[in-house]
Amino acid sequence: MLKKMLLPCTLAATVAMGATLQAPPPAHGFANSAPSFQCMSCHPGPMQPEMIKLSNLPDSYRPGQTYTFTLKLDSTLESLGEQQGGFAIQASSGTMIIEDRTHTQIVDGILTHTLEGSHRRSWSFSWQAPGESGPWWQFWRRPEPGPDVSITVMAVAANGDYSAIGDEIGAAGVTLKSDR
Ligand code: HEC
Repeated sequence: MLKKMLLPCTLAATVAMGATLQAPPPAHGFANSAPSFQCMSCHPGPMQPEMIKLSNLPDSYRPGQTYTFTLKLDSTLESLGEQQGGFAIQASSGTMIIEDRTHTQIVDGILTHTLEGSHRRSWSFSWQAPGESGPWWQFWRRPEPGPDVSITVMAVAANGDYSAIGDEIGAAGVTLKSDR
């Protein structure tokens, strides 16, 4: 009797173990994307806010126009492994657009790095400003001004140890006004 009960138990345990071993890694989060903007809740720091360099930002935006930005992490932290860094960016208005599918992706509305993209500290992507530029035959009309847009960036310069420890965290925020 005991033997009879043991067999299904062992079987069940073996199947359960197999399932755990074969469970795929989480589809998103960590080296293959930032799960949220709260990098600090898992990566203890230190904080280096000035590490984030966002280039090609206009002084003010033209409604409907698309701008291409480059984000660079200016950090002296050396990576011991493959992972160099990652980021998350979002805009309160307008649309974030992927320019480089190998290194960047949009997950749950956040533009972030891919696994391949974590092997570098520089990424490019675009943002289309809210509002419409208006049809060309109405070029003399002044379109409605767009809303103030806040762009938020969080980034991690990685030490490449496959953990959230010992990485540097950067944070930046800018507000862009409509140019009309
Ligand atoms: C819910 C917790 C959590 C949040 C939030 C989080 N991370 Fe991570 N991150 C981890 C863990 C755990 C690892 C280690 C496992 C791995 O590399 O996949 C990691 C690893 C990384 C790595 C590779 C680090 C290395 O040294 O190998 C990068 C880059 C990274 N995260 C970027 C970010 C960025 C950028 C943010 C915020 C915009 C962020 N993460 C938010 C948990 C988190």
